[in-house]
Amino acid sequence: MTEPLRLGIAGLGTVGVGVLKIIRQKAALLEARGGRQITISAVGARNRSKERGVPLDGYDWEDDPVELAKRDDIDVFVELIGGSDGPAKASTEAALRAGKDVVSANKALLAHHGQALAELAEANGSVLRFEAAVAGGIPVVKALTEGLAGNDIQRIMGVMNGTCNYILTRMESAGLTYDEAFAEADGLGYLEADPTLDVGGIDAGHKLSLLSAIAFGTQVDFDAVELEGIGRVSIEDIRQAADMGYKVKLLGVCQMTGRGLEQRMSPCLVPATSPLGQLDGGTNMVVIEGDQVGQIVMRGAGAGEGPTASAVIGDVLDIARGTRVSTFGQPSDRLTKPKPASTATPAPYYLRLMLLDKPGALAKVAAVLGEAGVSINRMRQRSHDQNTAPVLIVTHKTTRAALDNALAAMVGTGVVEGEPVALRIEHV
Ligand code: HSE
Repeated sequence: MTEPLRLGIAGLGTVGVGVLKIIRQKAALLEARGGRQITISAVGARNRSKERGVPLDGYDWEDDPVELAKRDDIDVFVELIGGSDGPAKASTEAALRAGKDVVSANKALLAHHGQALAELAEANGSVLRFEAAVAGGIPVVKALTEGLAGNDIQRIMGVMNGTCNYILTRMESAGLTYDEAFAEADGLGYLEADPTLDVGGIDAGHKLSLLSAIAFGTQVDFDAVELEGIGRVSIEDIRQAADMGYKVKLLGVCQMTGRGLEQRMSPCLVPATSPLGQLDGGTNMVVIEGDQVGQIVMRGAGAGEGPTASAVIGDVLDIARGTRVSTFGQPSDRLTKPKPASTATPAPYYLRLMLLDKPGALAKVAAVLGEAGVSINRMRQRSHDQNTAPVLIVTHKTTRAALDNALAAMVGTGVVEGEPVALRIEHV
């Protein structure tokens, strides 16, 4: 009879508890699908005495995740600790050095150390899988690495931080300010311990960098992700965008261009009728475009106990079956060092300006745009009673550099009050 696959689980937060529950409640199903029994030899977490709603008495307890990772009675180390360094990194490295396979939900660890860890795994004949690190329950890593392996990937777009999508959706649907929506998300327990990971776009940027490595056969380069969070998105822009047929999303985009690898995570406008535009609440969506398959849209829960544990178990079952895929879909020595794109692909932009309401003001702004080579597609001036008028402009496709020149020159016109808002419009 095939030997059981023995796990050591480090980290018993929401995801760890979810993994324990699936293994306890679905033992027969997992055995049937994995071809062998899945057992747990040992677990560990920072706080042993915490009540977790799931019995732990059948498993050995290890305080030290590095010791847990090296135990003789485990085949797979399941790293659910989190954090790019510290115990998560030390224990993952210890497990790989000891020849264990590793399943991780840790996007920060992989985004910062993915290449070195992939090399370490290969040097020790281990596999390192991370489905749960990207978009929670959506099996996007597996889709890209396996199901879509025959495609040249042209572009990936994703809303991969449910908290940001929740905040933006509540600003739009309930008319909340950013601060009110943030407080609501906090009250619901959505925010990471360090909320800048969510609202600063860092968490979603980590995920994007991992997908980018698989898609384009490059070494993970999180530092090259152009990052902008949602903190400056105003309710005014959400309303005006909606009025012009767009939704504001924290959107990740990666694509290989003639100018190099483009990786961006920033607030963008997307058509309200597109699948991304219709994604409301704390849900995630990943859109993949391949040369053979066309466009694939995957939507689902990006966080939470069941969905994230589901992704962990998917990886565990692959290991049980003997499926041994390279960390980023090809041997690590084949992954090339990416050249970051010097400039983003040209796109239309949404601009919102406060113009002094006096003769010739609009003409001055139009002239500045024209001189910078930026062409106006649509323009609206909102009704107002003060002596400044809100003006909305949608440009034709332009480079960010040309737009920045125009925005800088606007200051000198003397007719624009405050800083203009500029948001990229992504055609999806
Ligand atoms: N904090 C993330 C989110 C989930 O809100 O989507 C974990 O990456």
